[in-house]
Amino acid sequence: MFTLDAVVPWGRSFDEYRAMFALSNRDLGLTILDCGGGPASFNAEGTRRGSSIVSCDPLYQFDVPQIAGRVSATYEQILEQTRHNEHEFVWTTIRSIAELGDLRLSAMRTFLDDYPAGRLAGRYVRGALPAVPFADRSFDLALSSHLLFLYTEQFDESFHRAAILEMCRVAGEVRVFPLLALGAVPSRHVDPVATAVRRQGFHVTIEQVPYEFQKGGNQMMRIRRAGVDEESGQRDDAR
Ligand SMILES: C[S@@+](CC[C@H](N)C(=O)[O-])C[C@H]1O[C@@H](n2cnc3c(N)ncnc32)[C@H](O)[C@@H]1O
Repeated sequence: MFTLDAVVPWGRSFDEYRAMFALSNRDLGLTILDCGGGPASFNAEGTRRGSSIVSCDPLYQFDVPQIAGRVSATYEQILEQTRHNEHEFVWTTIRSIAELGDLRLSAMRTFLDDYPAGRLAGRYVRGALPAVPFADRSFDLALSSHLLFLYTEQFDESFHRAAILEMCRVAGEVRVFPLLALGAVPSRHVDPVATAVRRQGFHVTIEQVPYEFQKGGNQMMRIRRAGVDEESGQRDDAR
């Protein structure tokens, strides 16, 4: 089974983010926070396309050579783990280990090229869940890709609950992908965390998305303030 001792920097592309979070053109016009954005190219590519995106990660305490070194160290480890556990993945969009390596390296290079200017512009902010350095409701939408639920063994249920509530504090809506842990098994934190977050007055839905790389990993969790209309994003009582 695919396992890792620690959370690793490993970056996905803008197109993957769009699919993982079912981001519409309207969504891409919102102010977006990418929590645990790491070396993904979502911010670099999205900014180039005119979106307003801030990424937040403890990784951003490091400079380009330090991050590049961490990415290189991670690269071999992840590809080796993937090679040994090929059956845990769907090889349709990404067709081989070599293509996976090329796709990830290309996304991470795009991130590294953008990082110095983006950091100066305040688009890459050092910070860690469950306490990120942003005021209440600073963003319309907060995303978490391949951090929460994926690292089920590294982060306990109370961390997940606190992290999601923190994202709800800084954004009007939260989306989390995937709902599987490493090893492509359902995360045991999903149900208790959804229940706890609902108890705090939020509306939680599990929705299918047009992305699946870990087998069975094609669902995201969407969390909104209760009373916000699903379709329009307007409060129910404002219509
Ligand atoms: C596997 S990478 C995923 C990167 C990106 N979201 C993607 O999907 O391509 C996980 C990232 O989570 C970051 N991370 C680890 N602990 C964190 C925390 N407590 N809060 C925010 N990010 C964290 C790591 O530094 C790393 O960059």
